[in-house]
Amino acid sequence: MFDSTVEASAQGAARTHVPSLLSLRHVRKEFDGLVAVREVDLDVREGEFITLLGPSGCGKTTLLRMIAGFERPTAGSILLEGEDIVRWPPELRPFNMVFQNYALFPHLTVFDNVAYGLRTARVPEEVARRRVLSALEMVGLEDRAAVNVKALSGGQQQRVALVRAIVNEPKVLLLDEPLGALDLKLRKRMQDELRAIQRRVNTTFIYVTHDQEEALVMSHRIVLIRDGQLVQVGTPEDVYQRPQTRFVAEFVGEANMLGCSVLGREADGIRVRLDLTGYEAVFAYYGSDRLDPGEPGLVAVRPEHLHVAPPEQADFVGLLAGRVLLGPVVIYEIALASDYVVRAQAQPTDNVEIGARVGVSVLPGRGVLVHREESAIEPTD
Ligand SMILES: Nc1ncnc2c1ncn2[C@@H]1O[C@H](COP(=O)(O)OP(=O)(O)OP(=O)(O)O)[C@@H](O)[C@H]1O
Ligand SMILES: [Mg+2]
Repeated sequence: MFDSTVEASAQGAARTHVPSLLSLRHVRKEFDGLVAVREVDLDVREGEFITLLGPSGCGKTTLLRMIAGFERPTAGSILLEGEDIVRWPPELRPFNMVFQNYALFPHLTVFDNVAYGLRTARVPEEVARRRVLSALEMVGLEDRAAVNVKALSGGQQQRVALVRAIVNEPKVLLLDEPLGALDLKLRKRMQDELRAIQRRVNTTFIYVTHDQEEALVMSHRIVLIRDGQLVQVGTPEDVYQRPQTRFVAEFVGEANMLGCSVLGREADGIRVRLDLTGYEAVFAYYGSDRLDPGEPGLVAVRPEHLHVAPPEQADFVGLLAGRVLLGPVVIYEIALASDYVVRAQAQPTDNVEIGARVGVSVLPGRGVLVHREESAIEPTD
């Protein structure tokens, strides 16, 4: 019933030539001299599930509120099907917003909460009734229509908040961390559900989260934001497999960051020498800043792209410092130096003693070179 992430990415990529529904042009927002959003350019396509992802305070909510019309940009324009709507009040924009705290009417029933927008828009009661019931059916709550929303669980309330927004058939649904208040298990289930609903109704979703896993699971495209600036926009696969900067490599998924120096450009990438091990190899580089011979870089390698091997056949060698069982795989923590440990994926059958020498190899074609930026990522919470 649910399409896989790979299919979803392919779908996102296939939309490349569809004209955009919503466009942000040089959008900037300052609050008393503090720049919250800087010169954002973004095109959102019809039917797309696009996620704004970045650490706390990077400007995600501000960007969403400007699209909704709750904040006026300091500069720039917001175009809906080519028309600048930057001066339109929120109620005239064909958008709906879903918040983290649901914002349901606590004294109303499930039905009346969902029907509220349709009644305000003077949709005939019988039509509204049909639409509300079919929307509730979509999330399995049709038999709870007459119940007061306060009697529902957190996950059920979140579903009501979602269908209340969808039932108005907005052109764009804006969602600001809508699963933030749910526990982990429910959150995961709701991610699948939300994703399936979006694919079914085909409404454009602009979704905000600081949870990279959530972004990878649900989105056609992910917009990485740092300090109010877009740093990379692409399919989940793009940002995971082809990070353009150190920030993206570290923020999306887990990566070992191996210091290296640049030797020179070759046909299929850039040749580098790893600092700790002296290992030389060619890695792909997707960044836009120049990386010249002699400059320091970092090779970002996912644990699943680093495999253990007999020392004599491996790219480099370390000492096994620890072992973490993750169900079907084991993560080996391998010390390349007294203060540097890499994480590599092994099979549970690999049997190396703690403290023993162990070889590590980068899978062919894996590992991506990134610029060694000065600043590290700030913690998200
Ligand atoms: N109304 C406001 N007045 C002044 N500063 C604001 C206002 N709203 C946001 N900011 C500032 O703008 C920056 C971006 O805030 P924003 O709420 O957009 O971040 P966010 O990415 O949504 O963070 P989080 O993940 O914590 O929700 C922050 O430095 C914040 O303090
Ligand atoms: Mg926010």
